Amino acid sequence: MAIIKCNKELASEVAHRRTFAIISHPDAGKTTLTEKLLMYGGAIQEAGAVKARRATRHATSDWLEIEKQRGISVSSSVMQFEYQGHIINLLDTPGHQDFSEDTYRVLTAVDAAVMVIDAAKGVEAQTIKLLEVCRLRDTPIITFVNKFDREVRGPLEILEEIESTLKIDCAPVSWPIGMGKSFRGVFDLLTDRLLRFSGGKEKQSKDTEVVQGLDNVRLDELFPDEAEVLREEVDLIRGASSPFDLELFLAGMQTPVFFGSGINNFGVQEVLRALLDWAPKPQSRDATERNVEPNETSLTGFVFKIQANMDPKHRDRIAFFRICSGKYTPGMKLHHLRLGREMRIANAQTFMANARKSSEDAVAGDIIGIHNHGQLQIGDTLTEGEQLSFRGIPYFAPELFVSARPEDPLKAKQLQKGLKELGEEGAVQVFTNNLGRKLLGAVGRLQFEIVAHRLKGEYNVEAAYTPAEIHTARWLSFPDEITRNEFMKRESASMAEDVDGNPVYLAPSRYKLQITQERFAKVGFHTTREHGEVLDGAKGIYS
Ligand code: G4P
Repeated sequence: MAIIKCNKELASEVAHRRTFAIISHPDAGKTTLTEKLLMYGGAIQEAGAVKARRATRHATSDWLEIEKQRGISVSSSVMQFEYQGHIINLLDTPGHQDFSEDTYRVLTAVDAAVMVIDAAKGVEAQTIKLLEVCRLRDTPIITFVNKFDREVRGPLEILEEIESTLKIDCAPVSWPIGMGKSFRGVFDLLTDRLLRFSGGKEKQSKDTEVVQGLDNVRLDELFPDEAEVLREEVDLIRGASSPFDLELFLAGMQTPVFFGSGINNFGVQEVLRALLDWAPKPQSRDATERNVEPNETSLTGFVFKIQANMDPKHRDRIAFFRICSGKYTPGMKLHHLRLGREMRIANAQTFMANARKSSEDAVAGDIIGIHNHGQLQIGDTLTEGEQLSFRGIPYFAPELFVSARPEDPLKAKQLQKGLKELGEEGAVQVFTNNLGRKLLGAVGRLQFEIVAHRLKGEYNVEAAYTPAEIHTARWLSFPDEITRNEFMKRESASMAEDVDGNPVYLAPSRYKLQITQERFAKVGFHTTREHGEVLDGAKGIYS
């Protein structure tokens, strides 16, 4: 049993960290909000710095174009900035639904999320999915209802929709006055004061007039037409909705709701304040052996994302590593649990909005980028020696499959290498069937296009991709060797191995899956597998 040491100084540094992601349906205003937050942190000087990223949500061609200019995405995977004595780590989640697996993995590395909702469109499909993911870990959510400078839906209707569709209790903390051309501002329900809106980009809330108290006559002077309605609505909402409750928020059961206009920088500072005041500091994390506390002095953490070509000038791959405890110091030696060997981490990077710098004193909650030459995979744990691994980063059973064959048979090795590396990055899942054929599995079709594009651009392999008649994949666990052998014999045509050599059943149809499950009732058919989890290779048995 390891001796666990904690440290007060470290605890204070950790307490000033916030690590979060912004989730939204494409177009709701995530990029705009990101930019405004970065501007508050002084990390960027003008809007537009993160903008190029937005093209990713539209057509494939846009995405591919962006891929080519991958340098930009340095600013979009992880961004660190300082605000009022806090170090804030903002993690980007890909907006496109085809990359939901990537998004899932990013969300395992945050302690809170900001959900942006387009007030005209309400709760949209991708938001529903992302929230489901947040719910798996009870991640606390702050809601920002955006675009009140436009003609949008009424705030009550939006709150009702959030509650009924997303099944989360809403606690409005501000209330909008008017909308579109007659958007006047928001009334802060917690401090009982009005923040007056005056349009115009890049305005900061501090430039706007503040009126204290709902009974203040200044309200009637300013808004003779709206003041009474506001009073009625505030009365109503105070009576009808739950007050903000920090504990419920931290348990992921209630979301504080802000109204505003990201593009006008209205309501943004309040969201930032909420992140500082309410969002949790880095939390303890579940590892296989025990819970790891963030202020333990010994460094631990896990890789949740691998990104290639961040710098077009260097063909590098960066492993994004979330620190769960301890402090990173340059040159430190860490134990790589999966490989069972030491790794010296010489030059880890911290990512700012537009640049990266050498990381010198990262602590729990921070994300460092480690140069990776294939030794790190998603889900890998590094520690200072203790045998533990962080869990909770699964592969999901893909539902789309293509087989890949090189156009030029002499390029078979390159194809293999490319697929192996792209598989390790999590860009796609790679299976090898009994005939040695490579099958690519994805959750979203765009993943295949990216892989084809990158195989061509980075590995110089053109391949033919043929849709495979596979309905879905299931990882298997067997109760004993006899059952295993029987299964393998009977289903050999549908068997494959994943990248770690685990047996996978590739069901040709839903019906076939069902009857196979019935026939082999004692065999476990699993829809997910933990990254780095190697089933008992000899027997293919795991529990
Ligand atoms: P995303 O990252 O969630 O996909 O959304 P993004 O911030 O890119 O915003 C999507 C569109 O909505 C953009 O318009 C953006 O300017 C606009 N938008 C964001 N916040 C607000 C807001 O508070 N009010 C209004 N009226 N619009 C907002 P676009 O036309 O697609 O791009 P652009 O030409 O403005 O750059």
